[in-house]
Amino acid sequence: MKRTWIAATLLIVPLAVPLAIADEAALLDEARKVAMTLPPKLLATLQEEIGKSGFAGSIPVCKEMAPKVAGEVSKQTGWKIKRVSLKTRNESRAVPDEWEKAALVEFDQRAAAGESPAKLEKGAQIGSEYRYVKALPVQAVCLGCHGQPDQLTPEVKAALSQHYPNDKATGYSEGQIRGAISVRKALP
Ligand code: HEC
Repeated sequence: MKRTWIAATLLIVPLAVPLAIADEAALLDEARKVAMTLPPKLLATLQEEIGKSGFAGSIPVCKEMAPKVAGEVSKQTGWKIKRVSLKTRNESRAVPDEWEKAALVEFDQRAAAGESPAKLEKGAQIGSEYRYVKALPVQAVCLGCHGQPDQLTPEVKAALSQHYPNDKATGYSEGQIRGAISVRKALP
């Protein structure tokens, strides 16, 4: 059932995201749609896999599937898409650049001041690109792999230290900002 839905979402993307749109509001709208395709797909697959193989067994979903789906979305839409964090797990692909870092710091400040993390986003034309970031709040399901040390099973801890010896992405609680989806596209 979930898989059918995932496949359906993949098919809708190219239709919902027409390219060659010039004005800022339309670009923001387009970037938003591209960014929003990734989290529901990852979440559905994660939940399914956690049910079958537990948290440690689901680490490949985050490790291999997240970049794979991001690559597919990029191909379909022409936008580059990735995940970034101020406390990275995978330092080979998730370290934010200056613009992303400033946005993440701003998101943390706005969340601390009471804004809903799920609504935090930022879009802007930067040089010859349009860029957009959307905050990814920590939900209950994330805690098995990103939570406090006592929320991680020994198997998860072992797998994390094996694959990510410099992991900084634990110790989170629900509602905090884990990172952001970041999308960008060269302007015509
Ligand atoms: C089954 C374990 C697991 C669960 C559950 C999980 N993650 Fe992850 N997460 C990982 C792993 C492993 C990586 C590193 C992926 C890679 O190698 O690129 C990661 C990476 C990330 C990244 C990329 C930035 C970085 O630090 O590398 C973000 C953002 C992220 N997770 C958010 C979440 C959110 C939000 C949830 C809950 C909705 C969640 N994760 C649930 C294991 C998990």
